[in-house]
Amino acid sequence: MSNAFGKIVILGAGLAGLTVAESLRAEGYDGAITLVGAEAHAPYQRPPLSKGFLLGTTQAAQLVMRSPELLAKKGIHLKVDAGATVIDRAARRVTLSSGEILDYTGLAVCTGARLRPLPLPGAGSQGIFGLRSLDDARTLATALETAHHVVVIGGGFIGLEVAAAARKKSLDVTVLEAAPRLMSRVVAAQISQFYHDLHTAHGTHIVCNAVVTELVTQDGRIVAVRTQEGQEFAADLLIVGIGVIPDTAMAATAGIVCAANAGNAISVDACSRTSDPAIVAAGDCTARHMDDGTWRCLESVQNAMEQGKSAASALLGRNRPFTATPWFWSDQYNAKLQIAGLSGGFDQTVRRDTPGAAASFSLFYFRNGSLIAVDSINQPADHTAARRILDNNLPLTPAQVTDATLPLISGC
Ligand code: NAI
Repeated sequence: MSNAFGKIVILGAGLAGLTVAESLRAEGYDGAITLVGAEAHAPYQRPPLSKGFLLGTTQAAQLVMRSPELLAKKGIHLKVDAGATVIDRAARRVTLSSGEILDYTGLAVCTGARLRPLPLPGAGSQGIFGLRSLDDARTLATALETAHHVVVIGGGFIGLEVAAAARKKSLDVTVLEAAPRLMSRVVAAQISQFYHDLHTAHGTHIVCNAVVTELVTQDGRIVAVRTQEGQEFAADLLIVGIGVIPDTAMAATAGIVCAANAGNAISVDACSRTSDPAIVAAGDCTARHMDDGTWRCLESVQNAMEQGKSAASALLGRNRPFTATPWFWSDQYNAKLQIAGLSGGFDQTVRRDTPGAAASFSLFYFRNGSLIAVDSINQPADHTAARRILDNNLPLTPAQVTDATLPLISGC
């Protein structure tokens, strides 16, 4: 397809979609590229939305990854405010919400994910917010200016990062987590405990095993939430951060195979190919086949970028499998959590402490004696080493981990 007659359409102008577009050019594709975004904005960075943007230390202009003018210079035609509604695979065309029809020779689906809604009456009341987009973050930042009692439902990445921002604004903050501990989807109990203590020390009230069963409203505004256990928490601002759902209804309707056991995310191989040879998919809307036979959504910056590069190569008939160790991060107060690998199914954890640094350690996850993942808190060197070890299958023993005087990588 590396000729002037190709027409590649990319649905979704987030990091994955942008990466597909730019990678196509980097690989020498000189046909048409149309990048279709449902939001009103040029591609922007999401990670600061739940951190510096809420605090006012990062401005919207600093989030912009590429302006429309810069994209135009690269021959990438950006259409904003233009959600696609239908993919017609037989005719190789997509219909946009405006009614406009775009023909394609190759299609990339990078539609991302949307917030999981809270399934309770009153969830649409005033004072209740989610955080996914720049517009969400703007609305929430404004509301935080006049709030007093903030309740956060969900003690995952979003909930805890937003809780930290709200505490930095000296608001009264309660986090209600349904599971027995924080961030249980991704980390072991020791890391959850560290974050429980960190947030508590900063004055946040954390309640685990808290299942919210009722939203109490007055005149259409949230005033409190009640839990199954009968506890009531006053709230003039409620933030819901209970995960995301891959945005794949359009792809599924078009008959692109999706993974029913991974939230109906689009099934892709390591090269970002879907079940249709003319269609690739990348980023939060995808699920990848894992070594243990399951399908898994990775939902990360790295995944959007690496799958985006693979997807561009696949559109050009090339193989560029994404095989690197998955990594993630989260910033909460002065603690930078960096995660390398996927810890699910571990049977042993080993802690490595940094002598003299209380808020700085790493937790190594082993399965059958082999390292599978490492969570590092304020330990970027451990994180870097972990990625090298996992990427290259280097040997590592628990004894090497425990003794901080021994290097993690022999000979380093
Ligand atoms: P999440 O899956 O990380 O956390 C959701 C939390 O809500 C879980 O702890 C879950 O047990 C809890 N929960 C679910 N239903 C609940 C209920 N009814 N009541 C109370 N608790 C409930 O998802 P989150 O935090 O919403 O983040 C959304 C997405 O954004 C994720 O894909 C995440 O990876 C991404 N993200 C990543 C960040 C990072 O890497 N630093 C920062 C922010 C978001």
